[in-house]
Amino acid sequence: MTSAPLDTLDPQADPAAQQTSVEGAAGALSVTQALLYLDGVSVSFDGYRAIRNLSLYVAPGEMRAIIGPNGAGKTTMMDIVTGKTRPDEGDVLFDHGRHDLTKLDETAIAELGVGRKFQKPTVFESHSVADNVLLALKGPRGPFASLLGWRNKVARERVDEILLTAGLIDHRSRLAGEISHGQKQWLEIGMLLAQDPAILLVDEPVAGMTDAETEQTATLLREINKAHTVIVVEHDMAFVRALACKVTCLHEGSVLAEGSLDRVAADERVIEVYLGR
Ligand SMILES: Nc1ncnc2c1ncn2[C@@H]1O[C@H](COP(=O)(O)OP(=O)(O)O)[C@@H](O)[C@H]1O
Ligand SMILES: [Mg+2]
Repeated sequence: MTSAPLDTLDPQADPAAQQTSVEGAAGALSVTQALLYLDGVSVSFDGYRAIRNLSLYVAPGEMRAIIGPNGAGKTTMMDIVTGKTRPDEGDVLFDHGRHDLTKLDETAIAELGVGRKFQKPTVFESHSVADNVLLALKGPRGPFASLLGWRNKVARERVDEILLTAGLIDHRSRLAGEISHGQKQWLEIGMLLAQDPAILLVDEPVAGMTDAETEQTATLLREINKAHTVIVVEHDMAFVRALACKVTCLHEGSVLAEGSLDRVAADERVIEVYLGR
């Protein structure tokens, strides 16, 4: 994959984004330090507690991998952050405590800069790869923007920057329905980037990918992480290792272990419920 200078995509990128290391942003962050702050969060579905007293703190600029067995509550955690599911109790705060996400609807949360990619790619198959990104672009819209040709000039350049980053520049004119599954996943990540979110939530991006595609996806997310905070749920341990970031293992709706992948993978309880012997 071609590595484009992603910082040119986001002139307002937090310089702290460049400095997060594997062991950076240790343990408990205060609300004002955290870009995303979940504390004591619980939610039940028909009496089943899918999320139980969950606390998760993500620093600005961080990349965080979330692992854990099926049913651990990983997707539900993302549903709570994005406003799709309302927690029964607990704090969900965004941007150093400025916004209480439990009080906002999905549209308002997305507008604050919380971008989400679902597991299954949902691109516009009958549009070109480039038009998919163009349609997702954030920027001036409406009749004045069209009259000024904003979408034609600045937008085209930005679309190409994103396609370069996503490794899709050579496929820009193809129909999105014709590209491979892996390329569709990259396209959707590109569409997410087009909205210039402060944080990207990415759910199981490499499921069904070849090893080479998986490796390229790790490179892409690391590139994106230079200018954006990223949370990625994944089962593929080679992929998680390639992300080289702090790891949180969820189990039965709570944090079971957290730290470097080596530390989490050596945890007896993680081996017991997830990794196996
Ligand atoms: N909307 C829902 N209604 C009922 N049960 C749900 C709903 N969403 C998730 N669950 C349940 O919550 C638990 C956690 O699911 P999920 O967050 O999808 O786990 P994971 O993504 O870690 O595999 C599961 O038992 C699942 O069946
Ligand atoms: Mg899931």
